[in-house]
Amino acid sequence: MKVMVVGGGGREHAIIKKLKESREITELYALPGNGGIAQDAICVDIGAKDIRKIVEFAAAEKIDYAVVAPDDPLVLGAVDELNKIGIPCFGPTKAAAIIEGSKVFAKNLMKKYNIPTARYEVFDDINKALEYLDTAPVPTVIKADGLALGKGVIIAQTREDAKAAVRSMMEDRIFGESGSNIVIEEFLTGPEVSVLSFTDGKTVVPMVSSMDHKRALDGDNGLNTGGMGTVAPNPYYTKEIADICMKTIFLPTIDAMNKEGRTFKGCLYFGLMITENGPKVIEYNCRFGDPETQVVLPLLETDLFTIMRAVTNETLDKTEIKFKNECAACVIMASKGYPQSYESGFELKIDEKIADKVYVAGAKKQDGVLKTSGGRVLGVTATAKTLGEAIEKAYKNAEGVSFENAFYRKDIGAKALKAIKGE
Ligand code: AMP
Ligand code: GLY
Repeated sequence: MKVMVVGGGGREHAIIKKLKESREITELYALPGNGGIAQDAICVDIGAKDIRKIVEFAAAEKIDYAVVAPDDPLVLGAVDELNKIGIPCFGPTKAAAIIEGSKVFAKNLMKKYNIPTARYEVFDDINKALEYLDTAPVPTVIKADGLALGKGVIIAQTREDAKAAVRSMMEDRIFGESGSNIVIEEFLTGPEVSVLSFTDGKTVVPMVSSMDHKRALDGDNGLNTGGMGTVAPNPYYTKEIADICMKTIFLPTIDAMNKEGRTFKGCLYFGLMITENGPKVIEYNCRFGDPETQVVLPLLETDLFTIMRAVTNETLDKTEIKFKNECAACVIMASKGYPQSYESGFELKIDEKIADKVYVAGAKKQDGVLKTSGGRVLGVTATAKTLGEAIEKAYKNAEGVSFENAFYRKDIGAKALKAIKGE
């Protein structure tokens, strides 16, 4: 079968590496992919948001199945357009992808269906938002409504900071049009857990839990990034918490989307916070997480393509999904300066011995040489029987990668190890 994956980051590389294990797939394409993904799939120079060209390519190449991985094309309706020409897809329709595409939609859904989340107010009028902040408790959290490359969230410690955040979103439009509506919500505390799940709209199967490390620097300092590393499973996600989540969050969300006429099929990502009052939803994503996927999929035992088609065909209840009883760690190697300005174009060397453990996010081939082309350049993953060993191996593997100006956090998984030890 001919399969195409839309997207070109570390997450897509992890998906492609896993799909390559499937015997049924004879040809694998990535749109646009990247210089590293080119080792594992045929890269086609079509941007992930160029829906018209994606559909034209799929039709011309007679693609049998498509995986739409990033949020943008999902929210823009890539799955709807591909379905229209008869191509089955993994990923939600536009109507369902709104669960990530609009924070206002997601919050209102949770309120309507009693799904635990932070208390909140929605504003489309800047003066009303500023007035509300005169008496709102601080710290408080300000979120732009639409997609903002994961950056549309500002945590304000004081009322003045909160007002400045509102002005920057609604007046200065630092996140573009996504700032025309904002959510102001209660600041919650507790450990964060990412749970990716497969769902066909009837059954929901959570994958192994994971922990992201969003800040740029060690000790959770520095700016928020797209993610500097991950570990799985997440020790805070106990069996007891998992059971509560299934009952109060996962099933009610699937049910709510069905009731709204927006059946969700694909990977639904639950960003959770385990608060004193139980687990609450911080965010939904309509796709695999990045870099969560780089630790979750290496632990998946079942054939990924089989699962994806079961999601499409709504037969997930008949598909057994197994994860290895092991741990995984992924260390993201970035260009110095990320998430702000950084230089690119440095030669990227990856030792052959660890190439299968490397998921490339930002690199391109120039004159036959692989060069860095992004802030997050790649992720190095390792799996092992214990989390400690997995972390050690991931850092050891990272020694097999070199490029000028490389930097990475040295404490990925440290918090998780402490939690395991009960510290
Ligand atoms: P989001 O893009 O919604 O995931 O938000 C990015 C990050 O901001 C989350 O991973 C949390 O660390 C933090 N965050 C978002 N909402 C809240 C909240 N209500 N309380 C505390 N932290 C939050
Ligand atoms: N790692 C967070 C995300 O994928 O949104």
